[in-house]
Order: sequence, then structure tokens, then C-alpha cells
Amino acid sequence: MPTHQSLGGASDEELLQRMVATHPERFDVPFWEFFDAHVRRRLSPRPVIVDLGCGPGLLLRDLGERHPDAVVYGYDVTPAMIAYGRGLTFKPASVTLAVHDVAGRPLPLAEGTVSLASMSSVLHVLDEPLPTLAEIRRVLAPGGIFLLNDWIRQPLAAYLAWRRDVMKEAGPDALRRAFRLFPVHNKYTVEDWRWLLGEAGFEVLAQTELRASHRIFVATPTR
Ligand SMILES: C[S@@+](CC[C@H](N)C(=O)[O-])C[C@H]1O[C@@H](n2cnc3c(N)ncnc32)[C@H](O)[C@@H]1O
Repeated sequence: MPTHQSLGGASDEELLQRMVATHPERFDVPFWEFFDAHVRRRLSPRPVIVDLGCGPGLLLRDLGERHPDAVVYGYDVTPAMIAYGRGLTFKPASVTLAVHDVAGRPLPLAEGTVSLASMSSVLHVLDEPLPTLAEIRRVLAPGGIFLLNDWIRQPLAAYLAWRRDVMKEAGPDALRRAFRLFPVHNKYTVEDWRWLLGEAGFEVLAQTELRASHRIFVATPTR
């Protein structure tokens, strides 16, 4: 199960700490402005919100602040992530966090019941994304939203410069890891993501690039 490719073979604890430490900069004011403009207004007052590969659950916690009457689900294959999330305080009363492999097993949710499914820096890790996208489409309600936020392909020089200047990585070990991660993080172009979404039966309603490394897509099932 390639759960740690995003950190180039890091331990569960290292990946958890990295996700927690970078959460505020990854989900910053421009992210929430984009969310408010393109997602929030499409959700009902009591939306069902699911985060797949939810990591430490911080995005779900923040979504719960905006939607206190939501019914919230978070799934992640790494038990340490789910354990961390279960220690958080959530505004909504109904929160379910569970260890679940979103690539290998169907989602434990009924068809057509989900208002918002989110996947952040996860889909690129899966060997084959189409079965998981089909599951997302199955559980989404008509008019439901799939919020996909993931890595996009960059030139090698730009990727290495980003790790050096933004991630503040230095030294031979960091460079080795950067080369190991380059094919993982730079797997899909923007066009590839759009094609995958279309192939899986989604229409893109909005998209943005808040960081050179990532693209965010707001998609909905095609009718
Ligand atoms: C880079 S982290 C992102 C975590 C979180 N979405 C965030 O943005 O903070 C990738 C997460 O995907 C999870 N993951 C990887 N493969 C998975 C799978 N097949 N099913 C469920 N979760 C998976 C990992 O355990 C990890 O928590």
C-alpha cells in the first residue's frame, strides 16, 4: 500500500507531523476565499461532507467551523492519522473518522447521499484513480461537489527550486528525497486531471492555482 509516497518513504509519524505543520499554509485565506466563492454557496444548510485521505482531519475540522450542522466523514488508510483526528474538537455533532482504504474498497456510504467530497494531495498516490473516482461519483448527490486539490506537473528545475526555497530543504539527503519524489508529485498535468475528471463523469465548474505545485478543481457529476 503506497501510503507514504508523498514524503518519499517517511514514517507515519513524520507524514502526520508534516501534514499538521503545513496545514495553515496549504489551507490559507486564498483557499477559503476560493472555497466560499465556488463551493460553500452550493451546499445545503446541513451538508454531508466527506474527506478521502483526510490525514489528520484538520481540513474537516475547518469545514465543520463553516458548516456546524454538517454530517462529517473522514477516511484514511493510516491509523495514526485517524487517531490524531479523533483528538480534535469539531463543531458538528456528527463526525465519523475511520481507517479505510479508498483505493481498495467501496466507500461505506449510500449512493447519492454526499453533498461535498474532498480529496487533497491524495489521488496522485493511488496506482489507478478511476475506480476511486467512480466511487466518489456514486456517493455524490445530484449537484454534489467533488473538490480535488492535487499536485500538478512542474519542470524538474522548478520543483527542486520549490523544495529548496519554499520547503527550506537543503543537503544531500533532501536532494535524494526530492529526486525520489519528483515522479510521484509530478505525475499528472492539469490536462491529465481534467481528462481524468471527464472520463470519470465529472464536469469542472471552477479551478484555480493558488500554488505553482497544485491545482484545485471544483467538479460535479455530469447529468
Ligand atoms: C499527503 S497526505 C494528505 C493528507 C490530507 N488530505 C491533507 O491534505 O492534510 C496523503 C494522505 O492520503 C492517505 N492515503 C494514501 N493512500 C490512501 C488510501 N488508499 N486510502 C485512504 N487514504 C490514503 C495517507 O495516509 C495520507 O494521510
